[in-house]
Amino acid sequence: MYLTREEEGMLSGKEGPVVAKCMKLLVRLGEIYGADRMVKIGSSQAAGVSYKSIGEPGLEFLRGFAKEGARVRVPTFLNPAGMDLRNWKNFGISEKFAKKQKDIIDAFKEMDVITTCSCTPYLSGNLPRYGEHLAWSESSAVAFANSVIGARTNREGGPSALAAAVTGRTSNYGLHLEDNRKPDFLIKVETGLKDGDFGALGYLVGKTLKNGVPYFSGIGDCTTDDLKGLGAAMAASGAIALYHVENKTPEAKSYRDETKNLERIEFSVEDLKRSYDELSDCDAPNLITIGCPHASVSEIGFLTRKLEGKKLKKDLWVFTSRAAKVWADEMGYTKIIEESGAKMIFDTCMVVSPLEELDFECIGTNSGKAAKYLPGFCKKKVFFADIDTLIEKGLK
Ligand code: F3S
Repeated sequence: MYLTREEEGMLSGKEGPVVAKCMKLLVRLGEIYGADRMVKIGSSQAAGVSYKSIGEPGLEFLRGFAKEGARVRVPTFLNPAGMDLRNWKNFGISEKFAKKQKDIIDAFKEMDVITTCSCTPYLSGNLPRYGEHLAWSESSAVAFANSVIGARTNREGGPSALAAAVTGRTSNYGLHLEDNRKPDFLIKVETGLKDGDFGALGYLVGKTLKNGVPYFSGIGDCTTDDLKGLGAAMAASGAIALYHVENKTPEAKSYRDETKNLERIEFSVEDLKRSYDELSDCDAPNLITIGCPHASVSEIGFLTRKLEGKKLKKDLWVFTSRAAKVWADEMGYTKIIEESGAKMIFDTCMVVSPLEELDFECIGTNSGKAAKYLPGFCKKKVFFADIDTLIEKGLK
């Protein structure tokens, strides 16, 4: 694997032992995956932030790393933490958990990581460019950056994303290479889609393909938020980190001719129903969760219009980033949402917070990703439905 003189210097310890350690990890990964060289990255995004996910060993690793002098040299953002960092007391989080979670955030701060705690960094001040190399971790953010923006990132683990952030580089393999970005399946969508349907489609495609690069045709009107939900679900039920959508995503055009020769899978209205059925195992949610991936300000606005003037009888929590909160407050959305009895929660989400410790049996969601993860990560039953159905349930 070719290294520049500067990279050789990092590897040999010219920039200190932490940089050398990071470089060693990246070179090793590059060797395993057959990289020819390293590429400079525009930004990094580190997963492994919630104390629930990384526990004591993760906290010790981060503390040690920060103490050894690790400092990031490119903008580096964080995935959601295990709790709302300011209002954790209102959500049944224990003192012990909160203390550990704050220690994790402090260790990241010491490394100069920007502690946004969101899986939508592209909506929170870290918008990559087309073709830019990145080292991002969170699977839905990786899928969004690759597919909707056309940036280039593999799905990094927590340590490799940090190593990339500290050196400003990653090894050139996987989705950094043009050849690996070609589609290998054509998904012909034969039904109209709205809201949670994108998660339902993503769930079934991820589950069927497991891996690879799907090319979607037949998706009519859709929003950026719809694509965010589609990619998140595919990355949860499978390991899909890049997809193309005809007339919607930036690289789709260059592959249109190749789609004729691809294996073809049809997605019908029956498949849509099957997906909703497979993801639901209860139908009376006592907690409704919106915002997986974190709700954008337009999704919050949409929900606000649905909740205005209504009083919920069930708990409804909206998960979003602090960046979206600023605008939700400014637009008066937060006030209307809270008047309906719903709550806005920041820095965390329904999956990485310790929801299993709270007394809710059946969780309602319009997210294919949350529906797939909640049973395993939080030991909860799931009611997967569109937003109108969820609100209807919440009012009863
Ligand atoms: Fe984001 Fe949590 Fe969903 S990290 S994509 S809201 S599982």
